[in-house]
Amino acid sequence: MAEIVMGFGTSHGPLLATPPEEWDLRANVDRKNPELAFGAGTYTFAELAELRKGQGFEKENAVEVRRERWDRCQKQLDALGERILAAKPDAMLIIGDDHHEWFQQDIQPAFSVFYGQQVQNRALTPAEEEDVKSRGGNYSMKIYYPPKDEAYPCPADISRHLIQSMMGDGFDVTAIGEQPSDNGQVRTLGHSYGFIYRRILGSRPIPLIPVQVNTYYPPNQPSPKRCFEFGRAIARAVRSFPGSQRIVVGASGGMTHFVIDEEMDRRLVDAMLKGNWDALTSEPDIHFRSGTSEIKNWIVNAGMMAETGLKMELLDLVPCYRSEAGTGSMMGFATWN
Ligand SMILES: [Fe+2]
Repeated sequence: MAEIVMGFGTSHGPLLATPPEEWDLRANVDRKNPELAFGAGTYTFAELAELRKGQGFEKENAVEVRRERWDRCQKQLDALGERILAAKPDAMLIIGDDHHEWFQQDIQPAFSVFYGQQVQNRALTPAEEEDVKSRGGNYSMKIYYPPKDEAYPCPADISRHLIQSMMGDGFDVTAIGEQPSDNGQVRTLGHSYGFIYRRILGSRPIPLIPVQVNTYYPPNQPSPKRCFEFGRAIARAVRSFPGSQRIVVGASGGMTHFVIDEEMDRRLVDAMLKGNWDALTSEPDIHFRSGTSEIKNWIVNAGMMAETGLKMELLDLVPCYRSEAGTGSMMGFATWN
C-alpha cells in the first residue's frame, strides 16, 4: 500500500517573493480594497485603521522589522525544500485552493482532484502579467509561473484511485481529467501549486496530485469540519492504493491575510499542535474569508495527519505586516514527521 511519509504546510503569498522595501505594492492594493475581512466584520482600509489604532502596527511595518520577517520566511522555505527532498517522495499530493485560475464563475467545485497524466505550468501571457502586476504581484509572479512553460507529471493511476475511493467514502469529488483550456491554450496552473514547484522545489518535476478545495468563493465553500473529514478520507484512500509509493502531502496557503489576526492564527495552530480537532473544526466559518480561508487547506492536511499519526513540528509563524492598519500576511511553515 502507498504510504504518506511526511506532511508539510506553507504559506504562498506574494510577500514571500517581494523585497521588504517593496511591500507597499501590496499595501496600496489593500488601501483600495473596500471589503477587508477581519473576524466576522468587513471594513474599508480607513475603517480598519481606525478599529485597530493603538496596536503598534506602524512599528511592525517598519522596514527593518519587515527585513527580519523576510529573512525568517526565506530560511523556512529553503528548509522545507530540503526536508521534502530528503523524504524521497514518489509523488506529492498538494491541497490548494483555486484563485479563479482553473475555475471561474461558471463552475466552482467544492472538492476536486486532477487525474490527468500531467499539468502544465504555463508562462504568463503579457496580458496576464499586467493583470498580476495590477494586484501588486510584480515580483511574486516569477515564483508562481515559469519564464518558459514547464510540465509536471501526474500519477494518474493513484489520482483515479483516490477519486474512486473517496466516492465510496462519502465524498462526491469532482474529477478533473484534463487541465481546463480556452481556445486550445491551457489555463495557468494555480499558484497554490506553482509556488511549491517554483520556489520550494526549484522546478523539480516530482509527480503531482493536485487536490483543490474551494476555500475562497461563495456560495459552496466546505465547512472546517467537512475539510477535516475530507482530509481523513484522502489519507484512507492513499493507504488503500496497492503499491509502495512514498507520498508527501502538503497544504498550500494561509495563514490569516490580507488582514493579520494573530490570535486566530495562534488558536488554530495550537489546536493542530495539540491534536485538538474539536477546537480546530469548531472555529466559526465566517472567520474563514478572503485569503484567510486558505487555512482550510491546513485543516484538510490536519485531517490527513490525524489518520497517519505523524507529529506536527511548527517551523515558524511570521507576521509580515505591510500597513498601519495591520494588513499583510501571517506566514506559516510546518512539517509533520
Ligand atoms: Fe492564495
